[in-house]
Amino acid sequence: MTNPPILHDPAALRLPEGEAAKKLFIKTYGCQMNVYDSERMAEAMGSKGYVLTETADDADMVLLNTCHIREKASEKLYSDLGRLRALKRKNPEMKVGVAGCVAQAEGEEIRRRMPLVDIVVGPQAYHRLPAMVEAGGPQVDTDFPAEDKFEHLPQRKGYRGPTAFLTVQEGCDKFCAFCVVPYTRGAEVSRPAERLLREARELVARGVREITLLGQNVNGYHGAAGGAESWTLGRLLRSLGEIGGLDRLRYTTSHPNDMDDDLIAAHGDLPQLMPYLHLPVQSGSDRILKAMNRKHTRDQYFRLIDRIREARPDILMTSDFIVGFPGETDQDFEDTMDLVRRVNYGAAFSFKYSARPGTPAAEKAGVPDAVADARLQALQALLQSQQTAAQAQMVGREISVLYEKTGRYPGQMVGKSEHLMAVHVEDGAGAIGDLVRARVTAASANSLAAVLLPG
Ligand code: SAH
Ligand code: SF4
Ligand code: F3S
Repeated sequence: MTNPPILHDPAALRLPEGEAAKKLFIKTYGCQMNVYDSERMAEAMGSKGYVLTETADDADMVLLNTCHIREKASEKLYSDLGRLRALKRKNPEMKVGVAGCVAQAEGEEIRRRMPLVDIVVGPQAYHRLPAMVEAGGPQVDTDFPAEDKFEHLPQRKGYRGPTAFLTVQEGCDKFCAFCVVPYTRGAEVSRPAERLLREARELVARGVREITLLGQNVNGYHGAAGGAESWTLGRLLRSLGEIGGLDRLRYTTSHPNDMDDDLIAAHGDLPQLMPYLHLPVQSGSDRILKAMNRKHTRDQYFRLIDRIREARPDILMTSDFIVGFPGETDQDFEDTMDLVRRVNYGAAFSFKYSARPGTPAAEKAGVPDAVADARLQALQALLQSQQTAAQAQMVGREISVLYEKTGRYPGQMVGKSEHLMAVHVEDGAGAIGDLVRARVTAASANSLAAVLLPG
């Protein structure tokens, strides 16, 4: 089992004097919030003498940070645990931990099915992980503790790459009929604005130039901020925009019903806010939107997109879609295809509906598998053609690129454009963290090639 390193510089985790390093391997499934959590767990374990390793083979501890969103995602945990059995036989001292949303949803059940698991820790309790490891013996903690886990985690230190995630809001109160998140992550909670500004400043001091604010409903952010009023996401973004050296801001994931006027305006007047917005709609059929409990119509979504594009005409819109939701007819699916054609997305994720235990939709029969498969294929073909066109449209344009890594060839740097497209730039003198101007010379479905423009 291998996984890309989750910290740009694992050596940034310093060991307490005189202690030998123990090796921790973390595998992260699911959304960006899990990526952020994995990083924080790595830091927390760093204070106990663990350093990250890139393969499970030589690890003293393996931590699987899991996702419960679709059946396939959940089942992956069990196939990975199956593979870990052989490793644990060779090295019985190796600890196995399961964190994240499957841990929350299944708790004890995981240890019953897979006794090799030593620790099960939910997404709200992972600040307790170091103590659980230290205590030894099997342990399960899926509490939603009253204490703020972020306040109990060690400070983030050492250099890290130019981009970072920052969780500003967690949980969800929306209860879409298909979704497990309100159950695995709990009620919506926003972190206080001052703490986020402090954490952002710390990240910038460590070399970060681009921050992506994270939340299951990030645009529903309403964090306390000293005064009587709580802050909105727009206000938080504007304050982050005042931090010198923080060149780029993004946020994800948003719900259409929480896009307020100020946030839309920020897309037009906050230069650090990148012209990219992930705004999941799930379906283009009013009937299905209602059954999904999304609480808006397709027309309301169209009007919202118009307003956003008025504020920032070159914004790249992306979305998530579910096909085969219970009761979805051919006409409903056609409405989704029609919505996609009208909005014209720069990229999107699309999924076949997966019935999840405990959600209201799971009570109803889904559409036949073959029908859902065919719909998914048709939708993905349409979305892919839109993505390819959006990439092709960039050719000839001047863009900015933030370098995140070196390329495969000497003198080549790889980074992201304002529109979050991967860009390869010929730049022999470039370094990770440079923010450069470049002109796009060629486009493929997933990346751009560009030449450097003078300073
Ligand atoms: N908070 C975000 C989405 C979180 S989950 C929002 O409100 O849009 C990420 C995506 O997974 C969802 O947008 C949805 O498209 C998909 N998804 C969630 N539950 C699913 C299920 N039961 N079956 C298939 N896809 C699902
Ligand atoms: Fe799930 Fe809906 Fe909440 Fe998104 S808004 S996390 S899809 S319940
Ligand atoms: Fe998955 Fe949990 Fe994220 S279910 S999508 S890891 S919030």
